[in-house]
Amino acid sequence: MHPETPRLAEQLAQRGLTRRDFLAFCGAIASTLALPRAAYAATVATALENRLVNGQRPPVVWLEFQDCTGDTESFLRCNDPAVIDVLFDVVALNYHETLMVPAGAAATRSLEETVARYAGQYICIVEGALPTAAGGAFCLIGGQSALSIAQTVISQAALTIAAGACAVDGGLPGALPNPTGAVGVASAVPNAPNLINMPGCPVNGVNLMAVLVYYLTNGGLPPLDSQRRPQAIYGSRIHQHCPRRGHGEVGFYGDARHRNGGCLEELGCKGPVTYSNCYQQNWNGGTSWPIGAGALCIGCTNAKFWDTMTPFFGGGGDGDNDGGDGGDDDDD
Ligand code: SF4
Ligand code: F3S
Repeated sequence: MHPETPRLAEQLAQRGLTRRDFLAFCGAIASTLALPRAAYAATVATALENRLVNGQRPPVVWLEFQDCTGDTESFLRCNDPAVIDVLFDVVALNYHETLMVPAGAAATRSLEETVARYAGQYICIVEGALPTAAGGAFCLIGGQSALSIAQTVISQAALTIAAGACAVDGGLPGALPNPTGAVGVASAVPNAPNLINMPGCPVNGVNLMAVLVYYLTNGGLPPLDSQRRPQAIYGSRIHQHCPRRGHGEVGFYGDARHRNGGCLEELGCKGPVTYSNCYQQNWNGGTSWPIGAGALCIGCTNAKFWDTMTPFFGGGGDGDNDGGDGGDDDDD
């Protein structure tokens, strides 16, 4: 083990966590990916402790382009902050514009050095869309277009995770009339090796962490669907598992049925055409989720949802986008 890399037990102790706390976190990760909880938790813990690249922690670069930083915020608030700290101890977050200390040329140098030194070995997470109009001039970082940075960095990554709707298919910047020609990673870098798409606005941070930990543990990708989304996360239709289902239709926000857990379909809920594990994977450290908080689902994991799921309010959840190839569809 690299002399500068403390053992996991030491890292946990420094953060005030016990190994039991960490195994509980690993168990939650296993549940997210529909893996056997008890067996996989121990496997994850062992893998995180031992996984090094050239004697170093696995390098991660997190690129931000046309975004609102929502995916970063979601990731940072997905769990106990101490657990996030430990994960950041396990990997080497070499580049993240929002979180890193260096700025300007020093930050750019860190990215370039990681790409040069760890070509084919680093993990790349992309947040935000990539503008293609006007030669990519709508998003420049250090004088380089987002498009050219992405093509250089992603094409040499071991794994790329497109985190959030904007990175997957252009999201809000790519909504009609899309004046900047914004696209997602798959369009901007068609040869991206080992691309995983994780839509959502933003992506659920626990889901993102689960996929990251899966890769660190197994050195490969989790099972993906035809849109390169992790099946375990995007394979179930929200409506089929929704706790509001069968509790009467809400007529308007604040009426008795709304307060008592009634169904939001008449208000425009897109749960019937949306595939995601939001119903079991709450947000903000497990606090709640849109429908649980009394708001309807706007179908944010669906392809081009700003165009295909609008109007968000009214009209019911019978849009013509079926949300993909989830495996547990039914008739109503
Ligand atoms: Fe839940 Fe929406 Fe389906 Fe109603 S329409 S049961 S609120 S997912
Ligand atoms: Fe998005 Fe609907 Fe889940 S709005 S966060 S897919 S409940």
